[in-house]
Amino acid sequence: MHRDRIRLPALLDKVVSAEAAAAYIRDGMTVGMSGFTRAGEAKAVPMALAERAKTEPMKITLITGASLGNDLDKQMAEAHLLSRRIPFQSDPALRREINDGEVMFVDQHLSETVEMLRTHQLGPVDVAVIEAVAITEQGGIIPTTSVGNSASFAILAEKVIVEINLSQPLLLEGLHDIYIPTRRPVRHPIPVVAPENRVGLPFIPVDPGKIVAIVVTQKLDSSSTVLPPDQETRDIAGHLTELLKHEVKAGRLTNTLQPLQAGIGTIANAVMHGLIDSPFHNLTMYSEVLQDSTFDLFDAGKLDFASGSSITLSKAKYQAVLPDFARYKPKLVLRPQEISNHPEVIRRLGVIAVNTALEFDLYGNVNSTHVGGTMMMNGIGGSGDFARNAYLSVFVTKSVAKGGAISSVVPMVSHVDHTEHDVDILVTEQGLADLRGLAPRERARLVIANCVHPAYRDALADYVERATARGGHTPHLIEEALGWHARLRETGSMQAG
Ligand code: COA
Repeated sequence: MHRDRIRLPALLDKVVSAEAAAAYIRDGMTVGMSGFTRAGEAKAVPMALAERAKTEPMKITLITGASLGNDLDKQMAEAHLLSRRIPFQSDPALRREINDGEVMFVDQHLSETVEMLRTHQLGPVDVAVIEAVAITEQGGIIPTTSVGNSASFAILAEKVIVEINLSQPLLLEGLHDIYIPTRRPVRHPIPVVAPENRVGLPFIPVDPGKIVAIVVTQKLDSSSTVLPPDQETRDIAGHLTELLKHEVKAGRLTNTLQPLQAGIGTIANAVMHGLIDSPFHNLTMYSEVLQDSTFDLFDAGKLDFASGSSITLSKAKYQAVLPDFARYKPKLVLRPQEISNHPEVIRRLGVIAVNTALEFDLYGNVNSTHVGGTMMMNGIGGSGDFARNAYLSVFVTKSVAKGGAISSVVPMVSHVDHTEHDVDILVTEQGLADLRGLAPRERARLVIANCVHPAYRDALADYVERATARGGHTPHLIEEALGWHARLRETGSMQAG
């Protein structure tokens, strides 16, 4: 049974139920689970664990690649199974528990988690639970639609549970490139010098003796929640395309640009989609999540190759891509997230990084994570890995949120994820501010002229004028700087009066 999926005969008798596999996980353990932005997560074992926790109170530290699909974060949060969650999530129920202080959430640059595990600054990982399409003759684990942190979890954990997902086609074999950096301080350079380079193994090498249980599953990944482009996101894409055209004209880029990274979410997806109607061609991606837009760009003949750590698609795109996967496979590679997001590689390749802000301020500081400075949304994800090291670091957002009650451009951000030093370009549907080479006072003028919604423009201009009269390299009225957020809290709107 399943001999094409479990090719090491000695492992065939490890096949057990999800409940039996979950029994290896006990109260107080640290568990590393596969899963990255709703793709390739272990499904049956966490569900069994959440079920068990309803009658047998227990707590674990859960580390993943990024967010999980199939409502798993919700189920585990509602079963009060999670004491600590690392490094990213995007589930409303878990978000509530985090903001209530029930779950201790460690919001981490996605490239850093396994570096910390490897050097025992985090962990140890007691059990790894990894979704796979198959286990090789040597016991190597072939991941499914994401790699995330799975390789290092499996290598570092004391025990490994594998979920073989029969719904994930064997065609995924060969998609992955598992490269684990050598130990520091004598680490070799990571030999990725182009997005298409394969530098590792097509499976996760583990000692098969550590595989204590195998669960056979059929459940599909959840589809992404990304919405199709609307007029505002199309405008954002248009402004960015104009900037890139300008860069070509100035001789700084060619029409093939440089490897592109696009963050998660509706806006970044729409921006990439916008490149379909652009003069650019033979593009490449060195990104983290490959969303619908990656496949739209392939289909439009614009994109030559895409490197990522996961593939997260809408239902319609999933249904179109999967039967035709043989056509896309030669143009794709999935890597561990420490490689897809590695500062060394991002800097070497000169990535053009496009990430989404919740809000940004007059001087270019960006908040991607905290609503009103306190309430966690999803986490920084890989945006910091890319923004700090990119050739061009772009942040996009709509100029207002919640029907205009919130201006996404504020005097001072209520939480800082990306400092002014990591941000080159800001874009809203109103326009684009190119901050490169500008001092704070110059930045403020440009941001107000180009990015702010008209309903907030005068108020922001007035703030800057009064702040500048007081002086300073980065002018602020410190007693008013967060006043817009305070007003929102008190009245439900940032609008005065
Ligand atoms: N204040 C409060 N809420 C805001 C806001 C602001 N300034 N700006 C946006 N929002 C709300 C929206 O209203 C929306 O709320 P809803 O879910 O209730 O409708 C929500 O935030 C998402 O915004 P949306 O405009 O749909 O954008 P998105 O889907 O592109 O997501 C982020 C935006 C910032 C939440 C998302 O990109 C993110 O989590 N980024 C951080 C991680 C990251 O960048 N990872 C990529 C690395 S590769």
